[in-house]
This record gives sequence, C-alpha cells and structure tokens, in this order.
Amino acid sequence: MSNIVITGGCGYIGSHTIILLLEEGYTIHIIDNLSNSSPIVLDRIRDIVGIKLFSHIIFHYCDMMDKNSVEKVFDSYVIDSVIHFAGLKSVGESVKNPLLYYKTNLITTLILLEVMKKHKCKSLVFSSSATVYGDPEYIPVNEECKIQVTNPYGRTKYMIEEILTDLKFSEPEWNICILRYFNPIGAHSSGLIGENPIGIPNNIMPYLQQVAIGRIPFITIFGNDWPTIDGTGVRDYLHIVDLANAHICALKYIQNNKSGTFNLGTGKGYSVLELIKAFEEASGKSIPYKIGKRRQGDIAMVYADPSEANNKLGWKAKKTLKDMCEDAWRWQMNNPTGFM
Ligand code: WQD
Repeated sequence: MSNIVITGGCGYIGSHTIILLLEEGYTIHIIDNLSNSSPIVLDRIRDIVGIKLFSHIIFHYCDMMDKNSVEKVFDSYVIDSVIHFAGLKSVGESVKNPLLYYKTNLITTLILLEVMKKHKCKSLVFSSSATVYGDPEYIPVNEECKIQVTNPYGRTKYMIEEILTDLKFSEPEWNICILRYFNPIGAHSSGLIGENPIGIPNNIMPYLQQVAIGRIPFITIFGNDWPTIDGTGVRDYLHIVDLANAHICALKYIQNNKSGTFNLGTGKGYSVLELIKAFEEASGKSIPYKIGKRRQGDIAMVYADPSEANNKLGWKAKKTLKDMCEDAWRWQMNNPTGFM
C-alpha cells in the first residue's frame, strides 16, 4: 500500500489517525520533532496495533524548519500523499507570540509544499480549524460562513488555506482537502493514547481530566452570562476517533483526484455545564468549579453544519458525548501524569 507522510504524527490527532491508517494497510512516515509530543506515543501505537502493523511505521525525527531533513524523507521513499498536522496551536500563546506562530506554521508548510512539488507528490490533507470563522456569522456553521479570524493562530490557519487555494489554482493537478476541526476531545478506547498537553491545559477537556484525577483543584468556567442555554459557552465537541476517521475519508477523497474544504463536527453543541455534568457521570468524580470572567477572544456559541463532509466525504460523527467523556476518563485514569 502507498506511503503516507504524517507531519506531527506523534501528536493527539496524528497518533489517533495513524492507528486507523495502519489498519487500512498504509505505510506511515511520521515527521515529528517531538517539541509538543512524547516518543512514548510510538510504543503505545505498537501496543494497540501489534508488532506486525507497527513495522509499517517509519519515524523520522525531523524539524520541518530544516528543509534538508524534510527533503531526505522524500528522497528516500516514493510518498503518495501527506497529512499535515504539524504546527503550533494555542490561541492564547499565539496572541502573546505572533511571530513564533507565523514563522513556525507558515515556513514549515511552505517547506513541505516545495519538497512535495519537487518530488511530484501533489496530494495533501491539511489540518485547519473552525477558529477561522471567529464569532460565526450564523450557526450551524457551513463552509460558506464568513471567514473572520480573530487571533494569530487562526490567521496562520487561514493564510495556509489561501496558500493552498492559490497553489491549486496555479497547478490544478494538486488534490487538496482542507479540514476545519471544531472541538476534538476524548481518546482511543484502549486508554493507551489520549490528549497530553504539556503544562497547564488550554482546552477544557484535558483540564477537566486533570481536575478529576486530582492534579488541579477546580476548573474556572469562563463566564456564565453568555447568551446560551445556561449562560456558559457552547461548542461542538467531536470524538477524536471520529475525527481520525474523517482523515481516512479525506485521504481516499484526494486519492480519487478530488479537492474540497470540510467542517468536521457533530452538528450539535453542548455547554460547559453540560460537558461537566457528562464528564462527572462518566468519571464518577465531582468536578468543583468556580465562575470566572470571560476569557479574552472567547465566543458564546459555535457548532458545525457537517452536511458537506457527510455528503462528499461520506463521513459522519458516530460517537456520543458520553463516549467522549468515558474514553477521555479511561485515558486519564490509566495515565495520571500523561505520557511520563
Ligand atoms: C471550550 C469551552 C471556554 C477552559 C480552542 C481553539 C480552537 C481549537 C479548539 C485548535 C469555551 C470553556 C475552557 C476552561 C472554560 N483548537 N472553558 N474553562 O476555545 O472552543 O477552541 O480549541 O484548532 O482553535 O480556539 O476550546 O476547550 O479552550 O474551550 O470555561 O478552563 O470551554 O470558555 O466555552 P475553544 P476550549
């Protein structure tokens, strides 16, 4: 089966996607500098898929800012397609350090595209984000919704989308799938891999997990005066395994010489309080919380209209909020201090 490059493959979404790709029979080339992930993920992937399938992974310890090391991968193997996950992804950090985000996310992508072009590898799935919609013009959000990025991280995602659009226009033979993720949470049902942020989590689910396991005393809810069902923020939470499945569908889509942009969500929104309740039921733990001020840059409500992905990619989210919370808790229980 074909060789697929996965940039950032040791990360949360990359590792879950690799398991499904291996099960589909692909050979996987991970390009990762481990700056925001642990090599232990590789051992866990082996434990999940078994030694035979694991032998179809080649790990390239590589910083994508170093063009020569990216080039070496494409010189050594005939790469059929690329799924590009690698990049910095904290909204808050991007506001504090925009140059780091523009340099890292844009330059690594331009290097990747130049190397792909030189080696006639013109099939790409790009990991984008619903954050490009900002405070959405309307909900549920479809792909025609107005783009209104509100932070440097989101701007890097949209700039890369524009780069890809211009590249496709100049060279129509490129097949490109842009995937705009809503809020991925949860973990593989084995409890062996999951979301493992370094330091204090930015996102709510790893934060809830660490409160439940006793690493953090309580969670602060960023405002309960939003115009929503109970005053707390509403988001479209998506099981990480459903999201990983979407990448298999997107890979097949580009390998059928098609291109497109797709919102990946369930089409249903849950509030912070609803998520906390679901997680308490799944974990059997009570989650102490305090009501705090709204977080800068937050929005009240966003959830997807996933019908484009449903109809064109043949993908639909299947897992429930209960599944997401149960799988997230199993990961955290089995790994109280993450991949240590
Ligand atoms: C979810 C809800 C918060 C933490 C971000 C990025 C987005 C994407 C997904 C990369 C909101 C509330 C959170 C806490 C809280 N990442 N919350 N207390 O902000 O929807 O999206 O992650 O692509 O780009 O913007 O996710 O998990 O941070 O917040 O009350 O300690 O939980 O206000 O309503 P968000 P989140």
